[in-house]
Amino acid sequence: MQKLSVREARLESAIGQQARLQGWVRTRRDSKGGFSFIEINDGTCLANIQVIADAALPNYEDEVRHLTAGCSVTIDGEVKASGGKGQATELHAAAVTVHGLADPESYPLQKKRHSMEKLREWAHLRPRTNTFGAVMRVRNQVCRSVHDFFQEDGFLYLNTPIITASDCEGAGEMFRVTTLDPADPPRNDQGAVDYTQDFFDRPSFLTVSGQLEGEVYATALGKVYTFGPTFRAENSNTSRHLAEFWMVEPEVAFNDLEDNMDLAERFLKRVVTDVLENCEEDLDFFEQRIDKEVRERLGKIVAGGFARTTYTDAIAALESSGEAFEFPVSWGVDLQAEHERYLAEKLHGRPVIVHDYPATIKPFYMRVNDDGRTVRAMDVLAPGVGEIIGGSQREERLDVLESRMSEQGLNPDDYWWYLDLRRYGTVPHAGFGLGLERMVQFVTGMANIRDVIPFPRTPGNAEF
Ligand code: 4AD
Ligand code: MG
Repeated sequence: MQKLSVREARLESAIGQQARLQGWVRTRRDSKGGFSFIEINDGTCLANIQVIADAALPNYEDEVRHLTAGCSVTIDGEVKASGGKGQATELHAAAVTVHGLADPESYPLQKKRHSMEKLREWAHLRPRTNTFGAVMRVRNQVCRSVHDFFQEDGFLYLNTPIITASDCEGAGEMFRVTTLDPADPPRNDQGAVDYTQDFFDRPSFLTVSGQLEGEVYATALGKVYTFGPTFRAENSNTSRHLAEFWMVEPEVAFNDLEDNMDLAERFLKRVVTDVLENCEEDLDFFEQRIDKEVRERLGKIVAGGFARTTYTDAIAALESSGEAFEFPVSWGVDLQAEHERYLAEKLHGRPVIVHDYPATIKPFYMRVNDDGRTVRAMDVLAPGVGEIIGGSQREERLDVLESRMSEQGLNPDDYWWYLDLRRYGTVPHAGFGLGLERMVQFVTGMANIRDVIPFPRTPGNAEF
């Protein structure tokens, strides 16, 4: 008996096949004529397949008629053309094997719609809902497109370490990794914790970004990208922040800021094009149930160019917008979510790349402009989400980099290997980081970042 997925069995080309289908019951309805309709889902697509189970089945009375939402089954039978609405095929069961029942009194996923908040309490069961099936299939497509785009363009996929001693963003938002006893750590003569007795001989942390290591390899191998988990101990309980998220970070030798912006735009367009082409059924669902503008937004990405503006012009536009912002704007402040959304949604109505930010609000590694007060930074702001990409041209001049580090209270000695890249054959180079979850929010319209990652890590939440 050939195994077919629900997705395969729903195709007209499957009609006439003897097939085995395996999945979970969504609903069962018994007809007066002595048979039951059972809707089965196996996660391979949004839609279910309808199974017709006849009363002549030997286990009809004892088992089939007791199937409820969540039960797991194997069905052998024939795929036939269906007269039902919204389905080309249905499966006529010759045998139904029940693997596991799901007590309807306690199984949480009953037919009624649950709030996203409620579903977060069942992070282990929510993948069985339509919403999370659709999110995860789209997330998978985004990941696949990331690799396709860079691989086709000659980039090398680089795996950078999770455990590191350096704070790439210099924001002090790192999770410490230690084998010392927190209640009674060894101390030196001055009474400070003695990290030479720790596993790595020094304070060590979970990485906030693979960029610094990416630069090491880009300045040898040309074009590289990382794609891995990153960690931030920022205590922000918002719909766009996670403590553990996935980041895609290309880094390219000999690229300047202009090249970097072009790369980011080309990259986002490719990912969106692939999602539009390959996730049609799931996008229909998001359009109907989550965000009716999602397709329109995606269409605009593919069709038009992104807007580009300097930070200075963006501030001027915000100041003269007449909007009542919660956080007032003036040159030198960091853009808040409300400002980002005004720029992308109201002012430009499409993604906008803001570049050349004040040096004081950006990390040490960004290239300083001739004006001495701005750096070659770029953020891509997307309608609905805000900042989706952050990147820059990197400072390739040793002396400037060293003084920027000192200004920001970093000890250049701790970054001697990073500075060596400037000592030996330094080159202009640039890169950026895309937050995978923010990208998935953008393409699905999902309002909260906790609902686009299988197991969200946020302050106070690491149960499962
Ligand atoms: O702007 P960020 O902090 O930039 C960097 O980490 C650079 N080192 C990247 C580089 O140039 N290689 O982060 C990059 C992106 C943000 O634009 C955002 O999409 C995402 O990562 N991001 C987060 N996503 C979820 N939760 C958080 N706490 C995030 N912090 C950043
Ligand atoms: Mg940023």
